[in-house]
Amino acid sequence: MLASNPPAAQWPHEGAISFVDVSVVYRPGLPPAVVSFSAELRARERAAVVGRTGAGKSTLVLALFRLTAYSGRILIDGRELQSVGLERVRKCITIIPQDPVLHSGTVAHNLDPFEGTPRPELLAALQRAGLPPEMLEQAVDKGGSNLSSGERQLLCFARALLQKRPVLVLDEATSNLDAVTDEKMQALLRTDPNSGSDSDPDPNPNPNPNLTLTLTLTLTLTQP
Ligand SMILES: Nc1ncnc2c1ncn2[C@@H]1O[C@H](COP(=O)(O)OP(=O)(O)O)[C@@H](O)[C@H]1O
Ligand SMILES: [Mg+2]
Repeated sequence: MLASNPPAAQWPHEGAISFVDVSVVYRPGLPPAVVSFSAELRARERAAVVGRTGAGKSTLVLALFRLTAYSGRILIDGRELQSVGLERVRKCITIIPQDPVLHSGTVAHNLDPFEGTPRPELLAALQRAGLPPEMLEQAVDKGGSNLSSGERQLLCFARALLQKRPVLVLDEATSNLDAVTDEKMQALLRTDPNSGSDSDPDPNPNPNPNLTLTLTLTLTLTQP
């Protein structure tokens, strides 16, 4: 199926996501982690999946990345993900996880592992994530252990801004941030995170002009 019917070169052109009756069972004999989940996200739409710890939010993210098997259908721009190569699927999604792991090297290397991004762009991404420019050359220890978990989340956020992929997933991505920084990041996310500035009404900075952005926020209910 993969070889005979790859998605078009410009896929995904919009970033609309459909979950249709998605269920996940991690192992035979275990209760399902997700049962018949359906949702429609139009292109550029932000959506939040809210549920208690253990409700299955992260499992949905794993299914979206095809890191776990699922039944039902997950489509991006009408294309079922199980009929798309894993690499293609993962290249169209950026995730900011709850506890991002960084590589040893420098902050610059973590933002841009292939080192093709001009320095001013790296600095701008740092700035938009609320991190100081002098951090760019800072050394990062294995796993990012010399940075706070909040700084790791912000760096991961800056990296996501640079990647400009059509689908951005946040899995409790602000859980380690203080209230003020959390609020700043939420405000930035309410604008187009791929835009050059928070106030641009509808800029189109993506390399592919047809590419738009879908945001999926996953949050945990803190109240019982
Ligand atoms: N790798 C795994 N193997 C087996 N069960 C898992 C695995 N990951 C998560 N689960 C179970 O799946 C359910 C949903 O977990 P998860 O998606 O992490 O919830 P949430 O992100 O909403 O807190 C939980 O009951 C959890 O114990
Ligand atoms: Mg989770």
